[in-house]
Amino acid sequence: MRIVCVAGARPNFMKIAPLMEAFSNEPCIDPLLVHTGQHYDAKMSDLFFTQLGIPKPDVNLGCGGGSHAQQTAAVMTAFEPVLLDMAPDAVLVVGDVNSTIACGLVSVKLGIPLMHVEAGLRSYDRSMPEEINRVLTDAISDLLFCTEPSGVDNLRREGIPADKIHLVGNVMIDTLMKNRKKSEALPVLENLGIEPSSYAVVTLHRPANVDEPETLSGLMEVLDAVQTTLPLVFPIHPRTRSQMRHAGLEGRLEAMPNLKLIEPLGYLEFLKLLNHARIVLTDSGGIQEETTILGVPCLTLRNNTERPITCDMGTNRLAGTRPDGIISAFHEAMSAGTTTEARVPPLWDGHAAERITRIIVDHFVNPRSGVPT
Ligand code: UD1
Repeated sequence: MRIVCVAGARPNFMKIAPLMEAFSNEPCIDPLLVHTGQHYDAKMSDLFFTQLGIPKPDVNLGCGGGSHAQQTAAVMTAFEPVLLDMAPDAVLVVGDVNSTIACGLVSVKLGIPLMHVEAGLRSYDRSMPEEINRVLTDAISDLLFCTEPSGVDNLRREGIPADKIHLVGNVMIDTLMKNRKKSEALPVLENLGIEPSSYAVVTLHRPANVDEPETLSGLMEVLDAVQTTLPLVFPIHPRTRSQMRHAGLEGRLEAMPNLKLIEPLGYLEFLKLLNHARIVLTDSGGIQEETTILGVPCLTLRNNTERPITCDMGTNRLAGTRPDGIISAFHEAMSAGTTTEARVPPLWDGHAAERITRIIVDHFVNPRSGVPT
């Protein structure tokens, strides 16, 4: 069977990598890769393809930038003729970015079965663009692959039939496990002049945190407080850099002596940086999961998470968005010691992509094989 796999933005690339590999190893599957171009900077895209060994996309739609409506519409318009030409048996989308819903909609409208990897996650916060993308993509998918039990429960509550839902584990953790050793060999800490377990890492890019100058300015207060306690490394997302510039806040960052403002890092470099951090402050979804596996304390700068297992079993803690709340959560975490008790969520074992492949083959290629999925 021919499967068109879609990737568009940075967090998609580490999810698509193990899937492309598992599909290529399965004789019944002919995988094709479409890059929507949502992320287009070399540091946000090309570097991930090289480091993770993702095959060159069969097509790049080149649809980066613009408002949500412009971006979603551009991807849909560009994807439709490509899909008609590729004529696949199914389309696979991952995650919750605009490319996910855009390509999902095009597929189902052409009558092509849709598969969603990382289905069922819910923050129950409809002001997040990703939550809208998640809910809509799941509503139109034919096979839904979940990373954690909460995803299965959410989908069942939304009336999705049980036979479409599969708890398979986490493909992003497949990538982490595969690349951990390679990443450890890189001289990332030496290059930054920092020592293991004696620095913090921060990442920020959510519209709710960075688009309003007042909120962003409050978060600068947090960074200032953190960097007076620990050296702080801040690989800055292009969106955040541009919002800082607009808000005239770049000077404030530069004035913090213990803050290292750096360009976005490659996957391997960032994994090393995370693995040896004393603590991580982030509004990313994926980093909540990665720190759980690495056993590194994580403060999530949000009021909710669609990944509750990272709080229940992992090292994640919701620190909210108010500067005083985040700063006190930071000091509490610092006084709690360096070792954090974390358990590994079920099926986060490095084999999620293989499970997904087997389920797809059983579903589409030998549906009567009777092999339980
Ligand atoms: C997108 C995803 C978000 C994901 C994040 C990871 C949606 C709704 N959001 O947010 O879920 O966590 O990616 O990074 O899909 N830009 C560049 N170069 C790039 C990419 C973006 O300069 O390679 C700048 C552009 O100014 C662009 C802005 O960043 O307009 C925002 O990019 P966009 O893809 O719209 O959303 P992200 O904020 O990256």
